[in-house]
Amino acid sequence: RIPVYLDCDTGVDDAVALAYLLRSDAVDLVGIGTVSGNIDSAQAARNTLDLLELAGHPDIPVAIGAHDHVTHPYGGGAKHVHGENGIGGVELPRAAAEPDARDAVQLLIDLSHAHAGMLQVLTIGPVTNIAHALERDPSLPSRIAGVTAMGGAALAQGNITPVAEANIYNDPEAADVMLRADWDTVLVPLDITMQHTLHDGDRERLLASNDPFVRAVGEILDHYLDFYVEEFGERLSPLHDPLAAMAVAGAAGIGRPLRVPVEIDTTQGPGRGQTVVDMRGQRRGPRDHAGVRTLVLFDGEESLAEDLMATLLR
Ligand code: BDR
Ligand code: CA
Repeated sequence: RIPVYLDCDTGVDDAVALAYLLRSDAVDLVGIGTVSGNIDSAQAARNTLDLLELAGHPDIPVAIGAHDHVTHPYGGGAKHVHGENGIGGVELPRAAAEPDARDAVQLLIDLSHAHAGMLQVLTIGPVTNIAHALERDPSLPSRIAGVTAMGGAALAQGNITPVAEANIYNDPEAADVMLRADWDTVLVPLDITMQHTLHDGDRERLLASNDPFVRAVGEILDHYLDFYVEEFGERLSPLHDPLAAMAVAGAAGIGRPLRVPVEIDTTQGPGRGQTVVDMRGQRRGPRDHAGVRTLVLFDGEESLAEDLMATLLR
C-alpha cells in the first residue's frame, strides 16, 4: 500500500475524497493535516476527526495546519458552496479524538522520516502547509515520492475567478513554492474534475447503505448538489478532490499526466492565482522552462465516477 499524507480543507468533496482513501486497497492513509480553505483549519480538523470516527479510523492522526496563508490572512471560506460547517450543515456525532499535538507541518515532516522515499503527499486544499514545510525543512523533497495536488485550471476556465481555481487562488504564493520545489508535482485541474460528476441517484445509493459513514457522505453531498445546479442545470457534484485521491491511488481509468511547464500568477491583478500552463511544445520560446517538474492530468475514462462509487459502497 502507498503511504499517503493528506492535506485538506474538509469540505464536501474533501469528505468524499477521504472516504475513497479510507476504502481504497491501494492506499495507507498515515496522517492528515488541515488548512484553511472551504472553512478554517480548526473546523476542517473537527470535520475530519468526526468523519474518521464514523468510518472506524480514529487512530489516524489529524493535525491542525495554517489558519492564514503565506502572505495574507484567511479570507473566510466558501460557506455558500460547502455549508456553514464545511460539510453541508450535517451535524456528525462528535468524535472523542482530539487533534494531534503537532501542527500539520511537523506531522508531514515526521511522516516523511517514518516513510522516507515512499510517502506520497496529496493536497486537496490551498497548499499553505506545504510551503511552510519546505521552509521549515528544505530537505523534505528528498524523502517524498511524489506530490499530487487538486488545483488549477489549465485550458479550462477558473471557478473562483475567470482564470483561477479556488485552491490555487487562495494561496498562490504557496503554490508557487510547491511547484518550484525539487519534487514532481501532479496537478489535477478543473479541466478533468469538472468532467466527472456524481448525481442524485448516486447520492441515493449512498443514503441506502447499511454503513453510517457512507450514509453521512450521502447526506453531506445534498447542499453541494444544490450549489452546482446553476452551473450544470441539474444536481451534479463535480469530483474535484476525489479525482486527486484516485490519481494518487493509481486508479485504473486515470489518464497519463502531461509533463508541461506551469507557472503560478502571483501578481495582484486579474490573473492572480492562474496556473499558466505552457502547451506549446516545440514552439516554446522566450521563457526558460529548464527542469520542468510539473505534470498536469487532463484525461480520465468516463467510468471514474462509477469506480469511485464502487469503492465507497464496498
Ligand atoms: C477545490 O476548492 C474547494 O472548494 C474544493 O474542496 C476543491 O478542493 C475546487 O476548486
Ligand atoms: Ca478541498
